[in-house]
Amino acid sequence: MKSIKVGLLGLGTVGSGVVRIVEKHQNDLQQQVGSPIIIEKVLVQDRLKSRDVNVDILKLTEDPSDIINNPEIDVVVEVMGGIQPAKSYILEALANGKHIVTANKDLMALHGAEIMEKAAEMGCDVFYEASVAGGIPIIRTLIEGFSSDRLTKIMGIVNGTTNYILTKMSQEGVAYADVLKEAQELGYAEADPTSDVEGLDAARKMTILSTLGFHAHVSLNDVSVKGISQITKEDILYGKKLGYEIKLLGIAEQQDDSISITVEPTMVKTTHPLASVNGVFNAVYVHGEAVGETMFYGPGAGAMPTATSIVADLVAVVKNLKLGVNGLKSFAPTQVKKIKRDEE
Ligand code: NDP
Ligand code: HSE
Repeated sequence: MKSIKVGLLGLGTVGSGVVRIVEKHQNDLQQQVGSPIIIEKVLVQDRLKSRDVNVDILKLTEDPSDIINNPEIDVVVEVMGGIQPAKSYILEALANGKHIVTANKDLMALHGAEIMEKAAEMGCDVFYEASVAGGIPIIRTLIEGFSSDRLTKIMGIVNGTTNYILTKMSQEGVAYADVLKEAQELGYAEADPTSDVEGLDAARKMTILSTLGFHAHVSLNDVSVKGISQITKEDILYGKKLGYEIKLLGIAEQQDDSISITVEPTMVKTTHPLASVNGVFNAVYVHGEAVGETMFYGPGAGAMPTATSIVADLVAVVKNLKLGVNGLKSFAPTQVKKIKRDEE
């Protein structure tokens, strides 16, 4: 029983979660895939930094070649974040025939099509479930669960940090800056939290969801974006008095052959299910012509929920490896749809 060797790029919030799940659930994982899953090497920036996982049993390296050019490694899990050098490492690993699991929505929203093209050329898998809505398996759901339907709307709370901030401001009257600091300490926020609070992280996620759900070439520039940094406690209080909660909503709609996508703070009636999605939780509402209304709910950020999605992708890759197939997740649809922009 040959073990499956994994190279981990990054050992921060999410990478540490991956290490913990692989260690804790090793027996269950082994039963599912028929082989031990071993984290062979871990790339970090600083090997001497103190960490909240047991580094004595991990082989840390500061040299990416130890992973991407290592013939022993079957799967590379990228949890470093950012565009570069993550993109180059992934493309090089694919060129070396390695399968990829990533949580990197920045990269997938901007360069997903190029990465999937390289993967197809090399016969490799690239799975990225953790890139949207942390622990909610929404990417699988859009690709597999709704392949028979024509979706008309994808709407939701897809950023945990801003939902955590808005919830705390609404329920406890805490000041914006204090809650943002808390969200950073909890590991929910991006390395540069501007992406969270200015709505860019949610826009990247809506780009991915719209591409998959509407089978369209959606680019980040197609999303009209506004964040929550200008929202005050007074705005929230005023909304509450009128029977509304303020939520950062991503709304993507498909009508005929045009698609419109927005991310903005929105007044949501307190009776609407999205109004009671609180804290770091996310929810994605999907409407399809045949299925009607559906909604998916769960933790949108944090080490363990995000790592759950990553390790599930890892299991999927290993199952494909064993079957000698690959289960490419569509990122480059055949049909190109018109994107409706604000100025049109
Ligand atoms: P962290 O900042 O906590 O961790 C990043 C890790 O990558 C660190 O271990 C860092 O090394 C390493 N790293 C960064 N750049 C380099 C580099 N150039 N060379 C070598 N190592 C590098 O990030 P997160 O774990 O929070 O996020 C990782 C990814 O997961 C991002 O793409 C993020 O968007 C995504 N994600 C995060 C979620 C969350 O809840 N945090 C949820 C869903 C997705 P060192 O430790 O030595 O500094
Ligand atoms: N910063 C992101 C969020 C992490 O708060 O939702 C999960 O993608």
